Amino acid sequence: MSKIREGTVIDHIPAGRALVVLKILGITGNEGFRVAVVMNVDSARMKKKDIVKLEGYYPRIEDLMKISLVAPEATINIIKDYNVVEKRKVEVPKVIEGVLRCPNPTCISRKPGEPISSRFLLVSGSPLRLKCHYCGTEIGENDVIEQLVGGGRS
Ligand code: CTP
Ligand code: ZN
Repeated sequence: MSKIREGTVIDHIPAGRALVVLKILGITGNEGFRVAVVMNVDSARMKKKDIVKLEGYYPRIEDLMKISLVAPEATINIIKDYNVVEKRKVEVPKVIEGVLRCPNPTCISRKPGEPISSRFLLVSGSPLRLKCHYCGTEIGENDVIEQLVGGGRS
């Protein structure tokens, strides 16, 4: 897999999750910049992993937070002139506000007209479990992926 000149390499994505990461970033492939995806490559640390390389693209902070939920070990490498100029791990936040919807239809965070956005607290990172701050309903990794990609679980 060739090196990129400028852009972002998202490394240490769980094997098979690269397409979920692209979906979260809203990247379809029609944007015109070069996208490289490798799936199920050998990794010392993770056994198998996926990698996404995005030429000339730099993700937004909000998107990195979402990526942390589906790829808690991911490393974000910022590339300038072929060099890694910044490397950082995503961080799974302790509190996730406004991004996910509580599945409980009677939860106050879902009342129409209430100015209350959803709030989930991190119960466990691996496997991912989040708990609604308002009603206590718990959601897991599959629910989160489903919500973030909007439907299918690919
Ligand atoms: N990379 C790239 N293009 C570049 C520089 C790096 O595609 N111009 C990719 C590398 O192939 C690797 C990732 O960015 O997948 C991180 O690069 P580097 O820090 O050099 O690799 P490692 O030291 O193996 O990373 P880590 O320690 O995070 O595992
Ligand atoms: Zn709730």
